[in-house]
Amino acid sequence: MTRAQKGTVYLVGAGPGDPELLTLRAASLLETADVIYHDDLVSQEVLQLARATALVISVGKRCGAKRVTQLEINNKLIDSARRGLSVVRLKSGDPLIFGRAGEELKALAVAGTPCEVVPGISAAMAAAAALRCSLTSRDAASSVLITTGHHAQSPNAALAPTRVVYMPSSDLNEQAEKWLREGNSPEMPCALVSRVSQSGQTIFRTTLGELATAPAPVSPAVLLAGWALDQMHELGVLELQRAPREIELPTVPFSCE
Ligand SMILES: C[S@@+](CC[C@H](N)C(=O)[O-])C[C@H]1O[C@@H](n2cnc3c(N)ncnc32)[C@H](O)[C@@H]1O
Repeated sequence: MTRAQKGTVYLVGAGPGDPELLTLRAASLLETADVIYHDDLVSQEVLQLARATALVISVGKRCGAKRVTQLEINNKLIDSARRGLSVVRLKSGDPLIFGRAGEELKALAVAGTPCEVVPGISAAMAAAAALRCSLTSRDAASSVLITTGHHAQSPNAALAPTRVVYMPSSDLNEQAEKWLREGNSPEMPCALVSRVSQSGQTIFRTTLGELATAPAPVSPAVLLAGWALDQMHELGVLELQRAPREIELPTVPFSCE
């Protein structure tokens, strides 16, 4: 089991609320972290897994509570880790879906704070399970759209989606040409991820213009494409995963509220 390490920040998905829907890693990190910063939507049942001596701090931004800015949250995470504490940043569902994780990851990377992301079950998957309804169907739906009705999350309605292609065709040229014909820039970041989380995980990052020349991914694999992946390129996230202490991170200007 992964125990929370001192000086490290873990962005952890708390799932939709039922503690039995936590991952084993999330549960273990909750049981061993010194400090937990959580959002409002994280359930009390999940928070009860924190060890008795842990500091459990709400940094939620809703329901009329005193607003904690994103910048303050970023700084709390960095300061706690610098003080030698093990830190869990707990977000409902999956931390990388509408969780402002990008801003936190960027701030942590710029500060040189080691961090890890632990996925969680997003509301979309949990709702589909509650409905006992497959989100994809050979007859009715070949893709799933995850979007928001919250305008602050998407001030620009024209923003292109992040695409995640399951079972990508071995003919990457065909896929690349289709996206280029649709008007996407050849600079758009792409990544091929094989055997994710298993031994033998590989990540190949590229751009849409170069996608056709990428080596055929080992199965099982997914192909990701879109401008949200830009952060991966900017901060060298992939190198960071392989050699956390050897990479000199560029200073990237970023804005918070
Ligand atoms: C800021 S978003 C966070 C989404 C989260 N990261 C995820 O992956 O589910 C918050 C929204 O997610 C949805 N949500 C989160 N937990 C939910 C739950 N247990 N049941 C239904 N919707 C939920 C609601 O639309 C809620 O307003």
